[in-house]
Amino acid sequence: MRGRSARAVKQRLESLALAGVTILPKPTGTTGAATVDRPEPTASTPAAGSGGSHVQVGAGGDGGRALDLIRAEVAECRRCEALACARRNTVFGSGSPAARLCFLGEAPGADEDASGLPFVGRAGQLLTKIIEACTLSRDEVYILNVLKCRPPDNRQPLPEEVANCREYFERQLLAIGPEFICCLGTTAAQALLETAEPIGRLRGRWFTHGRAQVICTYHPSYLLRNPGAKRHVWDDMQLLMARMGVGP
Ligand code: URA
Repeated sequence: MRGRSARAVKQRLESLALAGVTILPKPTGTTGAATVDRPEPTASTPAAGSGGSHVQVGAGGDGGRALDLIRAEVAECRRCEALACARRNTVFGSGSPAARLCFLGEAPGADEDASGLPFVGRAGQLLTKIIEACTLSRDEVYILNVLKCRPPDNRQPLPEEVANCREYFERQLLAIGPEFICCLGTTAAQALLETAEPIGRLRGRWFTHGRAQVICTYHPSYLLRNPGAKRHVWDDMQLLMARMGVGP
């Protein structure tokens, strides 16, 4: 995404500070990239492992490096043993590590489990249309789910599964530092906002999560079953586009 505003840069710096990165040496050379010391590992930011103890900052490399580390942990995760036994792939997320906007879904379905990519089935194709109707592309936003493994028969995630995966989606969001998060459906909205309010009451309103502004809307799977709800999603996308300063 071109022309990130000063506000976006400030927000990224604040996200890094939240992640424990407090020192940003002056860039050297011509790439604009700088190297910073990684924060001490904590429960939510474990040791970097074989990748060394530095994180690349600048030219979009910071979020991507952090995401790679989290992705590797997720690939090994067995916190939900039943889901780990049944999965073909973990489904981590896709898109730009420097995205201004993240879409948070519920959990992988059969197509996502088979491919390892989020939102590639029928609901995913509808999500792509929604993103493109907002004059954005899948490559410039970031798409992730609350759960990284497919629940059997696509049942709703259990509370303990959401609790097990919370660390991963929270760290993904911290690494990306988006200005906006759009929660798709009840599971995503309730998990992110830590509320029991139904999606019908959460949609169309603004919330915050850390530094990000959050909007909730209906899940694309719900729209496939209830096409009449598309107009509400479009209303929500209009609110989102207006705040983002994008749109037709
Ligand atoms: N539904 C979701 O919530 N996520 C996906 O990745 C696919 C369908």
